[in-house]
Amino acid sequence: MATEKWVFMVTAQTPTNIAVIKYWGKRDEVRILPVNDSISVTLDPDHLCTVTTVAVSPAFDRDRMWLNGKEISLSGSRYQNCLREIRSRAGDVEDKEKGVKIGKKDWDKLHLHIASHNNFPTAAGLASSAAGFACLVFSLAKLMNVDEDPSHLSAIARQGSGSACRSLFGGFVKWEMGSKDDGSDSVAVQLADEKHWDDLVIIIAVVSSQQKETSSTSGMRESVETSLLLQHRAKEVVPKRILQMEEAIKNRDFASFTQLTCTDSNQFHAVCLDTSPPIFYMNDTSHRIISLVEKWNRSEGTPQVAYTFDAGPNAVLIARNRKVAVQLLQGLLYYFPPKPDTDMKSYVVGDNSILKEAGLDEASSVENLQPPPEIKDNIGSQDQKGEVSYFICTRPGKGPIVLHDQTQALLDPETGLPK
Ligand code: DP6
Repeated sequence: MATEKWVFMVTAQTPTNIAVIKYWGKRDEVRILPVNDSISVTLDPDHLCTVTTVAVSPAFDRDRMWLNGKEISLSGSRYQNCLREIRSRAGDVEDKEKGVKIGKKDWDKLHLHIASHNNFPTAAGLASSAAGFACLVFSLAKLMNVDEDPSHLSAIARQGSGSACRSLFGGFVKWEMGSKDDGSDSVAVQLADEKHWDDLVIIIAVVSSQQKETSSTSGMRESVETSLLLQHRAKEVVPKRILQMEEAIKNRDFASFTQLTCTDSNQFHAVCLDTSPPIFYMNDTSHRIISLVEKWNRSEGTPQVAYTFDAGPNAVLIARNRKVAVQLLQGLLYYFPPKPDTDMKSYVVGDNSILKEAGLDEASSVENLQPPPEIKDNIGSQDQKGEVSYFICTRPGKGPIVLHDQTQALLDPETGLPK
């Protein structure tokens, strides 16, 4: 087989996700088994996703990977665990046209090339590892003809990064913590697809940050070791909250969804503060955004916007519908205007058709904005230019897909090297 020249490859796209009931804490560090269930919303891959091309060829002499164009090592245990698990489930593959014939047992001897790219800046701290590991596992499963449903694949992606298991589905997803020691029942399941609640609009404020943040992996390890609040949360709080959140999603009950999402985000950050030494993920800008949303929700009488923050200062804001999202964006741009000479279309990215509805297609139009009356004077001065790097407008989105268009492949079909 070593003299054969073919390169056989698959390209896939996988979304990222944002937890509305957070995963924070492992009961098994190696298998990545959590201390509680979690629930997430999958974000539209048109705006935030990972694309991965995986290739196999008898000409490859070792497994190699490139992330955003730069070669990275695959020697880490998380990559190794995912590769081992997926190889052990590989099936027979045949492509007569290309003269490709790979038997189940050949996969142990064949090497892989993997190229992965995020359509958003990795440094922005937007769960790139979740989309990345989900895409790695999904694309390899397609390449190797692995006959497993997405929940089984989620248990493999989980061993790359916990939150990755939830990116195997679109819409609303639950990661069941499971109870078995081997982790076989710690899998993601879909609660509802992306069409179930398609009124929702999501605006992410990418908040500028100077400080180097503690990684989720080490942060949650320290919380497990030192926070009593984490124990209480996992045992007493989350189990009830999960049931309530499932009901809220099923009934599209935005008031309950918001109350649960905000409280859970705040409790996760309280656990971080309860960790020794304390971990600070949110900053002043994050807190200001919380105040803005809380005041607005209270003044309206019923919740209009939910907020949630992961292991960093970025705010993920979920508006109940497009009309509310337009008002939200106006409020955000009033308080966090772009720096002078910033093009509005680079300050609000993703689905920025919303800018037109907000009457804000020009940067200068921000100067005409009035403060939202109900929150005026309450959240500090207007001059907070530069505190938000940019905004991303998106919505709940679909799960992983194979990209059949060869022009989207990240590896050259002849050499198997990055294009
Ligand atoms: C705050 O999945 O990044 O985003 O399993 O160690 O890779 P590892 O951690 P990771 O943690 C995500 C934590 C979170 C909450 C969440 O996504 O549920």
